Amino acid sequence: MFISECLSVNDKNHLTIGGVDTIELAEKYGTPLYVMDEGQIRKNCRMFRHSIDSYYGGKGLVTYASKAFSCKEMCRIVAEEGLGLDVVSAGEIYTAVQAGFPADRMFFHGNNKTPQEIAYALETGVGRIVVDNLTELELLEKMACAAEKTVKILFRIKPGVDAHTHSFVRTGQIDSKFGLALETGEAMEAVKQAAKLKNVELVGLHCHIGSQIFDIEPFEHAAEVMLNFIAQIKEETGLTIQELDLGGGFGIKYVPENDPVPYDGYMERVSEVVKKSCQKLGIEQPFIIIEPGRSIAGPAGITLYKVGSIKNIPNVRTYVAIDGGMTDNPRYALYQSEYELVVAGRAGDARTQSITLAGKCCESGDLIGKDMSTQEIQEGDIVAVLATGAYNYSMASNYNRIPRPAVVMVKDGASRIIIKRESLEDLIRNDI
Ligand code: LLP
Repeated sequence: MFISECLSVNDKNHLTIGGVDTIELAEKYGTPLYVMDEGQIRKNCRMFRHSIDSYYGGKGLVTYASKAFSCKEMCRIVAEEGLGLDVVSAGEIYTAVQAGFPADRMFFHGNNKTPQEIAYALETGVGRIVVDNLTELELLEKMACAAEKTVKILFRIKPGVDAHTHSFVRTGQIDSKFGLALETGEAMEAVKQAAKLKNVELVGLHCHIGSQIFDIEPFEHAAEVMLNFIAQIKEETGLTIQELDLGGGFGIKYVPENDPVPYDGYMERVSEVVKKSCQKLGIEQPFIIIEPGRSIAGPAGITLYKVGSIKNIPNVRTYVAIDGGMTDNPRYALYQSEYELVVAGRAGDARTQSITLAGKCCESGDLIGKDMSTQEIQEGDIVAVLATGAYNYSMASNYNRIPRPAVVMVKDGASRIIIKRESLEDLIRNDI
């Protein structure tokens, strides 16, 4: 009935998540409130693990892209599920370390890692550093040498693939701030330079073509391009690339019209491309890594808000104002994202209204969605915005000095706080 499996309607006609009544959650913890379902997160992790195991015969690793939703509890769950972790800042590394996440299963990404971040990654023993450019390669060699360490690296490559998604989250094409270009010879130059270095060991290549992608073809194309490059490296330098990280980007259902690829089908088709290409090129199949973020955390989360004022502008639109907005979910403001809205207390009713859900910030663009179809909606109602588990808490801000909401985890009918609501004191904690 709803876009995520963890959602349902109980006998009071209330929306439930993980078997917990959302009206009760709003009463107990207040609003706005992010709610995540642990069962759904674990199921998503297992589904990816299972398909990588079955299609690559155990020669693969699923790493969760923690930028989608990072906190200590999420890191603990992902560690228990046996996944690796994609980290992109000292903050994400620190969070994972504090949660006891094994550092050797972390992949450190980023197009401009600072010297402090590199030093921290070396100190914590992060398993792989995904090097973005030649400046970083030189810096890393120097710092690893000074620390008397050898680091295993992957190179971030732009495969020149255009994924059909929003331009802000498209990364595989040549005009991108991420990675080394194949066409210009820059990537091969980097490989040759790395081969000369003592404290840096090139073990793999990485690409990530974008996010919220629905087609399989761009992924197949990227895999093929990367394997061709691996063969070219072997031919020109004799070096064997052992690991191939194909990134994340699998689209999820935000609204019923979205039609995500069944992830298992994606794995199957890409694995066929990998096998065939390796055979054709006469190279050994590399260890395959994938980095899903949104598809693990997104469908597992919802955000609960309380409706304040409702403004009906005849023949124009009806604005329904909530107690949150772009500070907890900036995705409409940034990408005109679409979301599904449910009136939590009338969840099973038919949708009879079309409304615009407005946040409380001093900013006209502060909307969660325009023309959203919904059940009858009244002032004081609790409403749920669905599939907000990824890139919502992690992109939240304190604009207008609005504290970030709490995050509650539900599991088998019980709930617990995993991130406390920010207080007013938290807002001035660093003010002098
Ligand atoms: N690996 C790398 C290197 C990435 O840059 C990303 C996402 C991922 C993996 C995970 O991609 P996912 O599976 O989550 O699509 N804030 C935007 C999304 C930005 C994605 C950034 N990189 C949004 O809210 O749509």
